[in-house]
Amino acid sequence: MTGMRIEEHFPLENYNTFRLPVKTRWFIEYDNEEELLRILHDEYFMECAYMHIGGGSNLLFLNDYNGIILHSAIKGVGMVEETGAAVTLRIGAAEIWDEIVVLALSRGWYGIENLSGIPGECGAAAIQNIGAYGVEIKDVVEAVEAYDRNSCEKHIFSNKDCLYSYRHSRFKDESTGPYIVTHIRIRLSKTPSPALGYGNLEERVSACGIEITPSVVRETILTMRREKLPDPAQYGNAGSFFMNPVITMRHFEALKAAYPGIPSFPAGDNGVKVPAGWLIEQCGFKGKSQGEAGVYHKQALALINLGNASGQDIALLAEDIRSAVAGRFHITLMPEVKYIG
Ligand code: EPU
Repeated sequence: MTGMRIEEHFPLENYNTFRLPVKTRWFIEYDNEEELLRILHDEYFMECAYMHIGGGSNLLFLNDYNGIILHSAIKGVGMVEETGAAVTLRIGAAEIWDEIVVLALSRGWYGIENLSGIPGECGAAAIQNIGAYGVEIKDVVEAVEAYDRNSCEKHIFSNKDCLYSYRHSRFKDESTGPYIVTHIRIRLSKTPSPALGYGNLEERVSACGIEITPSVVRETILTMRREKLPDPAQYGNAGSFFMNPVITMRHFEALKAAYPGIPSFPAGDNGVKVPAGWLIEQCGFKGKSQGEAGVYHKQALALINLGNASGQDIALLAEDIRSAVAGRFHITLMPEVKYIG
């Protein structure tokens, strides 16, 4: 396996945004599809436990990883199709998502400006269906290119075949097939059509006092994110730690009677989405810490590494939060971050 990067006992501090000082037994990074296939066909590799990571912005390592961490270095942005109205781009999984947002805006291609400032790489973005401020990546994904880890065959999944839902796709779920994503294809519009329905976004954008353009939307969203989310340079974190739970209308009505101020969003089919941040704040965790693990003081959904936390410290705090929320609201919070180990 020459030409690719292979490291032993490799520190993962720069590959997990919680900045946990864990190591992996092996770290292998490949540059192209041929190299990936060589790895998947390798006898030693096939016998080892392995997992694939992206930028590590949604991972919680509980221990050192005693196997192989695979990482894609497949880069490149190509034009698959261009019409008068839209473009379809093919993007390597290792491209940094926010750099694609910047590139798209500079070329006059719209639809992802609300997804500004989200850390991580494009492959992982499509796998976990990143979302923010009323837009999800599934709204623009046309197809995802992936290799079946077992048969080594390449598949091109249409948007529908990706089985997208809230922060989820078939690629996150081993039961719908173990795949390695190499490229994503997204379709962007040449006509701006700002999506301003989320919270007070419209008000914030209008307050800029200039024409509403997708670039103004990006700048506003970057400001809003800075106001609420911890700066990774200051505190290791993985954005929202839990998903926002969906509960039944009946459950919601009962909670509303006891807590008239409970915020909510419709979630289709008689379901109601309740912000996990609010539930956690109500339980008194906002701004609190347990040792080196903390709950961010401006957004209770973000757990932070105060400096020297271990993955276990963060997991213990998360467990206490889950029990408190379950005890008080009868709601089980599900982590959005993936636990490793
Ligand atoms: N809230 C509180 N206290 C808090 C935090 C939130 O009461 O400490 C309540 C407020 O009522 C607020 C509402 O929760 O109006 C929603 O808060 P916010 O707009 O910050 O959004 P969120 O539901 O906490 C979700 C996503 C974020 C995304 C934002 C904006 C999830 C799990 N999180 O957070 O995504 O940026 O909306 O669209 O869906 C991520 O996935 O890592 C992430 C940061």
